[in-house]
Amino acid sequence: MVLLEEKFIVIAHRGASALEPENTIAAFRKAVDMGADAFELDVRRTSDGKLIVLHDDNLKRVANIDKKVSELAYDDIRNIKVFGKEPIPTLEEVLEIFANRIPIFIELKDEGIEEEVVRLIEAYKAIDNVLIISFNYESLKRVKQINSSIDIGLLTYRYPIPIDEAVKMKAYAILPRYNIVTPNIVREIHAKKLKIFTWTVNDVALALKMISYGVNGIATDNPGIRSSIQKQT
Ligand code: G3P
Ligand code: CA
Repeated sequence: MVLLEEKFIVIAHRGASALEPENTIAAFRKAVDMGADAFELDVRRTSDGKLIVLHDDNLKRVANIDKKVSELAYDDIRNIKVFGKEPIPTLEEVLEIFANRIPIFIELKDEGIEEEVVRLIEAYKAIDNVLIISFNYESLKRVKQINSSIDIGLLTYRYPIPIDEAVKMKAYAILPRYNIVTPNIVREIHAKKLKIFTWTVNDVALALKMISYGVNGIATDNPGIRSSIQKQT
């Protein structure tokens, strides 16, 4: 991700999800308007193979419909509104609008979608503008096999942090949950020439702590946290 090389970055988690329904075009627009450096989204696949932007594997939390995404066709989903307000976008709709406007962290939630996701990114000429992230490292390996120039990042919420694995996989970044980040971990990750982005940091004091540890960026539900951070640094 060439755009992110040197500075500390604020990544809008599921878009500006504290202000607009998560993982919707409205949340991504808000992130851009608020000056986020990047935004993050989650990708799932419907039963008929459409890539949609949604965090959960079930529609219960966001739409009060107790059904699995993988068991629904896209036509069953296209009119559903997240928290009653905004449609669930397809990955293609998001790339169409934002692919070359802002770096995007694309989290693979479902397995087996790697090739389609990569091909879509290629079609939108967005290879240098995305970071593919996942807790599923087999998925990330697959992404690298499909297109070795796409950057990948390993998500983790537990020890040991997979630094050696990340190096072996030629990853760009490791993305540990904030509670397992220490100054030593940051040093070790940087010593291997990897970036470290941590999540989900919604509290100014926590953001300042992560910055003092030297992380390269934070994922936050509210990109407005940047102005509070700046006031205190
Ligand atoms: O940015 C990392 C974060 O998105 C991983 O957790 O559950 O919000 O997808 P989750
Ligand atoms: Ca995510």
